[in-house]
Amino acid sequence: MSEAWIIDGVRSPRGKGKPGKGGLAHIHPQRIMAQVLQALEKKVGFDPNDVDDIVAGCAAGSGDHANDIARMAALDAGWPETASGVTLNRFCGSGQQAVSFAAMGILAGHQDLVVGGGVESMSRYSPTHAHGFHANNEHLFEKHPQVPQGISADLIATLEGFSREDCDGYAVRSQERAQAAIADGRFANSVVPIHNDDGSLALDHDEHPRPGTTLDMLGGLPASFEKLGTAVMKGYEKSFDDYCKDVYPQLDKVEHVHHAGNSSGVVDGASAILLASPDYAKAHGLTPRARIVMTATAGTEPVIMLTAPCPAAKQCLDRAKMSWDDIDLFEINEAFASVVLKFLKDSQVDPDKVNVNGGAIALGHPIGGTGPMLIQTVLDEMERQDKQTGLVAMCTGGGMGTATILERI
Ligand SMILES: CC(C)(COP(=O)(O)OP(=O)(O)OC[C@H]1O[C@@H](n2cnc3c(N)ncnc32)[C@H](O)[C@@H]1OP(=O)(O)O)[C@@H](O)C(=O)NCCC(=O)NCCS
Repeated sequence: MSEAWIIDGVRSPRGKGKPGKGGLAHIHPQRIMAQVLQALEKKVGFDPNDVDDIVAGCAAGSGDHANDIARMAALDAGWPETASGVTLNRFCGSGQQAVSFAAMGILAGHQDLVVGGGVESMSRYSPTHAHGFHANNEHLFEKHPQVPQGISADLIATLEGFSREDCDGYAVRSQERAQAAIADGRFANSVVPIHNDDGSLALDHDEHPRPGTTLDMLGGLPASFEKLGTAVMKGYEKSFDDYCKDVYPQLDKVEHVHHAGNSSGVVDGASAILLASPDYAKAHGLTPRARIVMTATAGTEPVIMLTAPCPAAKQCLDRAKMSWDDIDLFEINEAFASVVLKFLKDSQVDPDKVNVNGGAIALGHPIGGTGPMLIQTVLDEMERQDKQTGLVAMCTGGGMGTATILERI
């Protein structure tokens, strides 16, 4: 049977996603992605003339993220004109999907050397960016009144009975684990510095973590999505909370438990993974680190939106004829604390196997860039702990989930 091998990967640091404040905010997303491609080439030593395609995830799709960022980044990186590129959008799962499609091209025998990656500069988002998944399609909004994701996260917490303290406790653990991982240099294999055009260093470390975060500190933060949920926003007939209650009439109210300290950080960043067919890798002396065992996607109710990581992971396991116990380490994207708490509740996976180096609450979630970052994080950790299998799952806008199982070679 054919296989798709992961040869290696790199990622940028995650810079604070605020204009004027983050270490990458002044650098165009194509330039961040281009530098990641260059760093991947340098790290592995492959010939970019042989690249069949670059598949990149990016969710914004407009402004500086517009058009085909994969191809533009490849040209900006100085890669040969023959290196084609395609950009895709599966919201937060875009980058993970890019790696899946890269693997599929190889598994189908259509391609031999493909880069799967992703990028997002959230510092360039407009304030209203995350609102309106229906993109002004009123017909769709009547059927599925999709609300901003923070409100969906609050809806999960309300329906599942996760308290603010539950979510804060999870967030403190994310910060503690990320801090331990950083102190131990566990991200060093994958993180590459990003430079300014004059060659000076822009950023070489993740900027979002807040070491020393305590439950008391988080307890003082205001809920971020309460006003957005209870007010009637311009262009809507009722509040987002009321739209939620139309779909979940058993609720009296939506409990707004998420805030700046237990939601994923808004950051800038890019990532890339080189995948190859076994024949190509052997012929060119490329040593694989892992193989893609299986990928899957799932869809769930789109107003609650963020509940599909567990169904996607389960589908991935079933197709691979594996069980939860066959997986040594998990990365479940920390879009919001309630997302991971729901995954843990539904899967009954041991929390000590999940996000062992923290996650997006501490480190940040550069939307399209995150999936390949999580694949690298789990692979680096599998090697560090000498474990064999890892599973990555993410929630996405529109009520979808993405999952990938990988196995060390
Ligand atoms: C929740 C959210 C709106 C908060 O945005 P924000 O208010 O700009 O958040 P910030 O990170 O700037 O933090 C605001 C303040 O909270 C406090 N704070 C944040 N994290 C903290 C922590 N761990 N400990 C203590 N205080 C903290 C600080 O006072 C901080 O202000 P400062 O940076 O000036 O010190 C934003 O993080 C968000 O939207 N996250 C989700 C993104 C998303 O939807 N992604 C897709 C997911 S599917």
